[in-house]
Amino acid sequence: MITALRFDEGRLEVLDQTLLPDEERWIELDSATAAADAIRRLAVRGAPMIGITAAYALALEDPARFAAAAAELRDARPTAVNLAWAVDRMLAAGPERALAEAHAIHDEQEGANAAIGRHGADLLAGAQRVLTHCNTGTLACGAGGGTALAVVAELAARGPVEVLACETRPLLQGARLTVWELARLGIPHALCVDGAAAGLIARGEIDAVVVGADRVAANGDVANKVGTYAHALAAQAAGIPFVVAVPVSTLDAGTATGADIVIEERDADEVRRVGGRLVTVEGTPVRNPAFDVTPAALVTAVVTERGVMHPVAR
Ligand code: MRU
Repeated sequence: MITALRFDEGRLEVLDQTLLPDEERWIELDSATAAADAIRRLAVRGAPMIGITAAYALALEDPARFAAAAAELRDARPTAVNLAWAVDRMLAAGPERALAEAHAIHDEQEGANAAIGRHGADLLAGAQRVLTHCNTGTLACGAGGGTALAVVAELAARGPVEVLACETRPLLQGARLTVWELARLGIPHALCVDGAAAGLIARGEIDAVVVGADRVAANGDVANKVGTYAHALAAQAAGIPFVVAVPVSTLDAGTATGADIVIEERDADEVRRVGGRLVTVEGTPVRNPAFDVTPAALVTAVVTERGVMHPVAR
C-alpha cells in the first residue's frame, strides 16, 4: 500500500516527493516552519496533501505560536485552496482541539477519495484509455488512492484500463510520481511528453481525460497544474469527456471566477534545469506559472465525494 504521510506518537513524517522515484526517504517535520518549507519546495505537494500536512504541523506547535504558525503555513502556496481551508479549520478548532481536528481532516480525505473513485468510475463506465496530468494519487492526498487517480484505479478494478500519464514539466510530477504510483498499483500505463497529448487525443487514442484541481471557482472554472487547459481544449475538439475529480474542500465558493484565482509563479530555475542540469542558456528569462485555469465551459463534469456536477458552467 502507498503511504505519503504518517503521524505516530507526536512525530509527523512525510515521504520527500522531490526524491521520488529514485529514493524513498521519509523526513520529519517538527514545526510549522519545517512544514511550510517542505510545502514550498514541493517535498510535500498536491492540494489535499498540503492541507493535511499543515494541519498536523499546526497540531505540533506551541499554543502561543499557533496563530503565527497558521499564517506561515497559509502563505506557503497560494493556489491550492485546500491549504487555506485546512488552516482555517485548525484556527477554528484552536490549539486544544488541534490534534483531533488534524486527524479528522486526514480521515475525511481518505473517505472522500474512495467515494470520488466510485462516482468517477460510474460516470466514465467503459472508458479504457484515460489520459491524466500531474499527480493526483495517494502522494497528492495523503491517503486512500487520491482523486483523479482513484477514478483511474476504480476503472481498472472494474475492467481493462490503460493510462496515458503526461510527464508534467517543469517538475515532472507525472513522470516521477504518477508513473511510480501506477507501477505499484499494477495499472497498465505509458508516459508521454505534455506536448504529445493533444495529437494523441485528436487521433482517437484517448477515451477520456481525468485530472484533479487546486481550486474550483464558484462559476466552475478550474485551476490545476500548468498544461491542464491545453488537454481540455484538445478533449473538447475531439469530443471526449474532460473530467475534474476533487474533494469538496477544493470547491471555493469565495472565489467568483478563474480570473480571481492567484496563480503561483515559481522559480525560473525549475524551467531552466531538468534534474538539476541546465538545459537552456544560463540566465534565460523564464515564465513559470505553476497552474493554469480551464474555463468551466470545457469541463464535462466535476466529480466530488458527494456525486457528479454536470453541467459545470452556469
Ligand atoms: O504543484 P503540485 O504538484 O502541488 O500540483 C498538484 C496538482 O496540480 C494536482 O493536480 C492537484 O493538486 C490535485 S491533487 C489531488
